[in-house]
Amino acid sequence: MPDLSTITCIEDLRVIAQQRVPRMFYDYADSGSWTEGTYRSNETDFQKIKLRQRVAVNMEGRSTRTTMIGQEVAMPVAIAPTGLTGMQHADGEILGAKAAKAFGIPFTLSTMSICSLEDIAEATDRHPFWFQLYVMKDRDFIERLIERARAANVSALQLTLDLQILGQRHKDIKNGLTAPPKMNFANLMDLATKPRWCLGMLGTKRRTFGNIAGHAKGVDDLSSLSSWTAQQFDPTLNWADVEWIKKLWGGKLVLKGIMDVEDARLAAASGADALIVSNHGGRQLDGAPSSVAALPLIAEAVGTEIEVWMDGGVRSGQDVLKARALGAQGTLIGRSFLYALGAYGQAGVTRALEIIQRELDLTMAFCGRTQIDSVDSSILCPGTF
Ligand code: GLV
Repeated sequence: MPDLSTITCIEDLRVIAQQRVPRMFYDYADSGSWTEGTYRSNETDFQKIKLRQRVAVNMEGRSTRTTMIGQEVAMPVAIAPTGLTGMQHADGEILGAKAAKAFGIPFTLSTMSICSLEDIAEATDRHPFWFQLYVMKDRDFIERLIERARAANVSALQLTLDLQILGQRHKDIKNGLTAPPKMNFANLMDLATKPRWCLGMLGTKRRTFGNIAGHAKGVDDLSSLSSWTAQQFDPTLNWADVEWIKKLWGGKLVLKGIMDVEDARLAAASGADALIVSNHGGRQLDGAPSSVAALPLIAEAVGTEIEVWMDGGVRSGQDVLKARALGAQGTLIGRSFLYALGAYGQAGVTRALEIIQRELDLTMAFCGRTQIDSVDSSILCPGTF
């Protein structure tokens, strides 16, 4: 296995994650819905945007530091909430939260995480982190979950609005994806080739949905858990629920999954602190535009009323810079984080963050800027975005 020092880009981490993580979990992270057209365009649309090279500009004293909803960040990047992260690597959410804390960027825990809210609080000495919320039909459970988030020192809630129903990902069905892994012959053979992953899993007790098991009515064992989650996502979720959650939580609120200017206006009117332009990593509506293609119109429409962030396809510091130029105050990384975690655990995540920050810093300099906060669309070649 290559030494970490030879890892120079996110793609290197993806290749190693594919070798180390059991196929059903690697595929879960690395799939889009149906044709995967939207999933692919999240990345390829970034490539189409061209940067203006400027020369003979004093490049000293550069900084990628900025803020996201008032919080200081080492660069405009946060770790996105991703389901089943603790199945990419044992205790994955804890390792991600620790790496993010050390680097000085926010970590977001998913409702569908393996490690629980309480695990993260304990492992990071109650360092503030963010929590992503799915609204379930069992509203008592949601109220208790929000209370637990508060007790765990969560400093912002990300409410996901684009997953009342689930987009179909062919591989998940074919792989029989369940947590823990369904032990058919193919999966057993695959696990036999992933000894490090198996050893890690044997060494942790965190192997199911930590925020849910034992906390929701009727969910004490794993078999009832999978049917419970399939039935529990609330298809009636609407803007009145956003208001309810906002009141219940009372703290910083971020709305995730906005792809349309009209929805962006509703998000701004809701009084939330930020919105995330996101097509859920191309995992929901296949045929939707890429996030980076949807970003400029949304930023233009509501950017002065609500902070605009984006996720989807961010695999480099160049992508972060382009998103920033198009009006995103912050970006979130999902797959870039998961590849790094699956490949090398916490050290891999740290490496991924170093790679992205270095790319961001150098690319910003090539564009003739020294401060991330001075970046705007004038660093882009007209006609390419
Ligand atoms: C959940 O967030 C998923 O995309 O699977």
